Amino acid sequence: MAHPLEQLRDDALREIESARAEQGLEAARVKYLGRSGSISSWGEQMKALPKEEKPIVGKLLNEVRNVVTVAIESRAHQFRSQKESGALTKIDISLPGTRHEISALHPLTQMWERSIEIFRRMGFALADGPDIEDEWHCFDALNTPPDHPARTEQDTFYLPDGRLLRTHTSTVQIRTMESAPPPIRVIAPGAAYRNEEINATHSAQFHQIEGLYVDENVSVADLKGALEFFMHELFGAGTEVEFRPHYFPFTEPSLEVYVKSKALKGGEQWIEVAGSGVVHPAVFEAVNKARGDKAYDPDKWSGYAFGLGMDRLAMILFDIPDIRLFSQNDLRFLRQFA
Ligand code: FA5
Repeated sequence: MAHPLEQLRDDALREIESARAEQGLEAARVKYLGRSGSISSWGEQMKALPKEEKPIVGKLLNEVRNVVTVAIESRAHQFRSQKESGALTKIDISLPGTRHEISALHPLTQMWERSIEIFRRMGFALADGPDIEDEWHCFDALNTPPDHPARTEQDTFYLPDGRLLRTHTSTVQIRTMESAPPPIRVIAPGAAYRNEEINATHSAQFHQIEGLYVDENVSVADLKGALEFFMHELFGAGTEVEFRPHYFPFTEPSLEVYVKSKALKGGEQWIEVAGSGVVHPAVFEAVNKARGDKAYDPDKWSGYAFGLGMDRLAMILFDIPDIRLFSQNDLRFLRQFA
């Protein structure tokens, strides 16, 4: 005669097999395996059995519990598979899929990365400074007197607290020298802001790469060599570069840099792409004052600096006729650089 536990097992397997949905299966699980389920309650009943029967019934109880547990799990698995295959049959594979746009770097970012890569090869490290500046870093320390036209509200965006949006990245020259002694060889890419009349080559927000090299015996020849090398790497070896005398309060002598690139479609023409020069001793003195030492002794150290107009360089490189295209977010324009 079958043991009552075997009877229980057969009943449980029948109910599991005949369950038509997950709820029915769950009811069977609670009935047989739940804390007060009929199989579980055999654990309690075991205590009353004579000693010699205990191991036999204990073994049988384990077997029954395992068989029923496995049966419940496999039936649950069947339910899940049925559900998933049901969901699959609802998918219409003839419908068009979701389109994923392939993105690309903005032409200015591409310009930025190419330029940084060239300067890195020349041994320049990256430096950084804030877009919101004080007058001292933007003008005073750069030997630009209070009555200089660049400092007027017609040219510069001032905040109510007297700070301003930096008009050039030359601010980073000062910040770098304040925080580290010479020699220095850094570039600082970033945005600059001017209260400009906007046209095809002028924007109120544009981008520059500042460069600063301070060491012993640095000359104009070093400056010209570095910038010529940069332009040739960027635009090709045949590119003509011209340096024209200019005036900046923070360099002496000062030079504007023009390139005549073969990349220009609209015929060859000279375009001004940078300001540069040999660091003015007054700038070193201002830095010394801020540092409270003589680290930048103008009799010992000399340097060159430059500010490259990234937007203009990108316009030449990619043959872009209008600076405003960079900020209009027109996908027809941006897709051309993908
Ligand atoms: C300066 O900003 C100096 N700080 C450059 C410098 C640095 C000189 C270190 C000496 C030593 P400038 O105003 O010329 O100089 O600007 C430099 C370049 O930034 C220009 O050649 C031009 O390419 C770009 N630029 C200036 N203003 C604008 C503008 N409104 N829109 C687009 N590009 C501009």
